[in-house]
Amino acid sequence: MNTALDHNRITIDVHLTDTHSETLDEEIRSGLLASPRSLPTKYFYDDYGSELFERICELPEYYQTRTEHALLATYADDIIHITGADELVELGSGASTKTRVLLDAMAHVNQLQFYVPFDVSEGIVRRVAQELAAEYSCLRIHGVIGDFLAHMEHIPNGGKRLVAFLGGTLGNLKPDTAEAFLASVYNEMNSGDYFLLGIQLITDIERLEAAYNDVSGLSAQFNKNILPVVHNLTGANFDPNAFEHVAIYNQPDHRIEMWLRSLCNQTITFPRLAWHLPLKAGESILTEISTKYNRQLAENVLTTAGFTLREWHTDSQELLGLALAYKP
Ligand code: AVJ
Repeated sequence: MNTALDHNRITIDVHLTDTHSETLDEEIRSGLLASPRSLPTKYFYDDYGSELFERICELPEYYQTRTEHALLATYADDIIHITGADELVELGSGASTKTRVLLDAMAHVNQLQFYVPFDVSEGIVRRVAQELAAEYSCLRIHGVIGDFLAHMEHIPNGGKRLVAFLGGTLGNLKPDTAEAFLASVYNEMNSGDYFLLGIQLITDIERLEAAYNDVSGLSAQFNKNILPVVHNLTGANFDPNAFEHVAIYNQPDHRIEMWLRSLCNQTITFPRLAWHLPLKAGESILTEISTKYNRQLAENVLTTAGFTLREWHTDSQELLGLALAYKP
């Protein structure tokens, strides 16, 4: 591996530091004062949290990742053929494991020029950029470290783009936020660019709840990891041992909800705000929603944002949907 050369093909922009600590404290406080109390889901994904999520993806109970991977493997050539893309922009790219399927399909038809991983986790984007630069000769990589709800305009202008948002991460956004997010993706795209959305589908409760309550306890660890992250950001005295992991399926809203339930009466102090949050034993904080869709719901949310659905793929058990849409 020629590091000097690889270095020339990698650019990483960091936008997360744009947020001042006071703004950050305020954002966290407002969530904790809301009903229900909540913490921003993006704080799961520090470097350790991203690693925990990678391990969740390999759990027998967590069927989503391998199902999506298989779907991508089946349809990647078709998708690349339809889109004619020479640039892949991936929102919430994480470890970019499934990405390689798309990059390979682009490379096969000599279309692979540019990869833009966009993620909140800096360590993982830097690592992936090094790996991919070594794996794909000539590929240029422009990583963007940011919050895709705030920093979308920092996506570099490029060629014929395919924007991918995989894993069902859209499900982590509340319906109004999901709508605003898709509108901002649409806004960043050029007419004729394609959007590939991987979405988790509504299925039986047992399967859904098992995926977020694995026997090995990784999901619980992942959920609790938000507390040290928030502690590091704010100085608040969150103790992971004072909370338990809860993940349940909310059927009316067709979503998994992950909560942290306080095991005792306790007071959380935010030093910079000189603010105290009393929590009673049994009181819970919502850390994540993971909404499940069906084809109609997915199509609705895409068309509301302005997209036209071109293809819809699903696995034989209809656990996961892959929607390929374009900006007319
Ligand atoms: C990365 C958002 C797809 O919602 O299923 C896994 C995150 N949370 N286990 C999901 C997650 C708990 C995951 N996504």
